[in-house]
Parts: sequence; C-alpha cells; structure tokens
Amino acid sequence: MSSLDQALRAALDTRQPLLAELHSQGTDCYRLFHGSQEGASGLTVDRYGPQLMVQSFHQPIELDALQSIQQSVHLSLGEELRLVYNDRSGGNSRIDRRDPVYQATPEALEDLIGHEWGLDYRVRGRHPGQDPLLFLDLRNARGWVKANSAGKSVLNLFAYTCGVGLCAAAGGASEVVNLDFAEGNLAVGRENGVLNSQLPTMQFVQSDYFPAIRQLAGLPIATRRGHKLPSYPRLEQRQFDLVFLDPPAWAKSAFGTVDLLRDYQSLLKPAILATAADGTLVCCNNLARVAMDDWREQVLRCAEKLGRPVRDCQVLSPASDFPSQDGQPPLKILILQF
Ligand SMILES: C[S@@+](CC[C@H](N)C(=O)[O-])C[C@H]1O[C@@H](n2cnc3c(N)ncnc32)[C@H](O)[C@@H]1O
Repeated sequence: MSSLDQALRAALDTRQPLLAELHSQGTDCYRLFHGSQEGASGLTVDRYGPQLMVQSFHQPIELDALQSIQQSVHLSLGEELRLVYNDRSGGNSRIDRRDPVYQATPEALEDLIGHEWGLDYRVRGRHPGQDPLLFLDLRNARGWVKANSAGKSVLNLFAYTCGVGLCAAAGGASEVVNLDFAEGNLAVGRENGVLNSQLPTMQFVQSDYFPAIRQLAGLPIATRRGHKLPSYPRLEQRQFDLVFLDPPAWAKSAFGTVDLLRDYQSLLKPAILATAADGTLVCCNNLARVAMDDWREQVLRCAEKLGRPVRDCQVLSPASDFPSQDGQPPLKILILQF
C-alpha cells in the first residue's frame, strides 16, 4: 500500500465518529483528507453531497493514485461518489481545465446538490471560478449563525455564494443582506436561495466592499487624488444586529486593498460601526501566517479605539475534518459581542 493510501485510510478511520455526527445533522459536505496535516501536503479530498472533489495544489496526482483514493472513499463511506479532479498546481492555483490526468464524467460535472445543517447547496465541479462553491472550513461558523440569528437583521460581507446568509435565513433572521462585488457569486447565492424555497427571501447587494460598508457606517468614501472612482450603489447609513466579516486574504479594487496581513483595520473599523450598539460581529482571518493571539489583540484594540469595547470575545474553530497539529488552524474566527 502506498504512503498516500495509508494516510488516506487513517484519515477516513479517524473521521468515522465525526461523519456519523454530521450525517445525523443533515450534512454531507465535508473534508475527507486534509493533506497538509495528514501526510500529503498540497492534496485535499472533499465530499460535496454526491460528488468527490480531489484537488492538488503542489503537483498533479497520478491516475492510479486518484483511482485508489476514489476506491478507498467508496469502501469507507459505503457509497459511490462522482469523481471530479481539479489540478490547481499551476499559477495562482488555477484549475488545469485540459484535464490531462482524468476527465470527469458528465454526471460528475452536472449541477448537483449537497447538504449542510439541513440546507441545500448548489454543487458544481466546474464553474468560472477556481474554488468549490462552499468553503467547508466555515461550516461551524455557518452553524453558529443558524443557531444565533432569530429575529436579527444580518449583514453578510464578502458573501461569496451566500452560505452564511442562507444559515441566517434558516435561523429566523428578520432580514438578510448579502454583499459581494462578484455578480457570478451572488448568482449562486440566489440559486441557493431557490434551492431552499421554504426560507424567507434574502437581499443581494452587488458592490465593492469599501464604498458599501463606509456608507453603512456613515464614513466618507476615500478618493485618491486625480483618480475618478467607478460608480457604486448608494446605501443609507444603518446598523445590523449581526454582521459577518469573512474577507479573502488579499484583493485589490479601485476602492481599496483587502490585505489581511498588513491592514485588517480598514476592513474591521467600518464593519464595527455598521454593527448595532448591542450587536454581534463575527470576523474571520484565513491567513495562516497571522497568529490568533496577535490578530485578536489587534481586533480588540481597534474596537476599543472606536469607543466600542467588546463585552465578550469567543473563538470558534473549524471542525475536526480540518485538523491542525499545532492547534493553530489557518482559519481564525472571533465572535465579538458589543
Ligand atoms: C473567500 S470568499 C469569502 C467566503 C464567504 N464569506 C463564504 O461564506 O463562503 C471572498 C469573496 O470576497 C469577494 N470580494 C473580494 N474583494 C471584494 C471587494 N473589494 N468587495 C466586495 N467583494 C469582494 C469575492 O468576490 C468572493 O466572493
């Protein structure tokens, strides 16, 4: 047996209790193998409902190794999943869409449905973006939102495919606003809304983060001298009971730069101001290089400086399908109660 086979089988065995729990909670989307921590750096194996998604980030995997992964998962789950292999070892983690190693079947690539916390999510092995349509390490945070949204107005920032918004709607939020600048991502969010038609409808705002959050917070929109800003939707100043801030590690736009390493403050400050006086802000930082203790200190200091001291600060960790040997998972999540 190859070392990869051994590592995968150990990972599958370890997960048995977690998977039983997840299945009983209405979840069939989870990580089966987290290579960087479980013995094959740069390789991930995820289940998205009926689909098995293998991704390689350092070098392509061989066909026989891929088939062996599929077989081990089949044996362990007692279910045959439809395999999609996305090799992302090229520049900027882009998928090699020529598929020299393995071509997925049409059944594996069709629009599918996965489940998490009893909700339906669109699953699509290939789409214009690079990442799968649901970030699995955020599952516990979505569960927390579902359990803590009743009667609240909820603002989901950097909403991507609106999983957090969907959980807020399912948790009985009075209002859910999803904000993202990518129409394609919000379109999947709308699809997710349609897949869960029993829930109240959500709102979608397609806008760059900076002008949107600064208007909500009642702050001026910064212009760089000599640069005309692109147009942006106008929003009234207002606050939300629950604000969820989960930005990408780095992104540049005409309005500013998202930079979780050097400048979390410029994201956090307006988000705090858009949170109600006795509200809650859930904020995330997925950059592995940033240590929890340093980041938490920065976050708490920023709130203090704004005259909005945090009454309670809780750490939320990803579930054990994202193990971290040093207890420092890349995705850090803080729940701030004001
Ligand atoms: C890592 S994803 C966020 C994940 C998301 N919170 C979730 O629950 O799955 C990053 C998202 O930020 C959006 N984005 C990046 N820069 C942005 C900006 N300046 N303004 C608005 N959205 C932005 C991208 O379109 C993408 O959907």
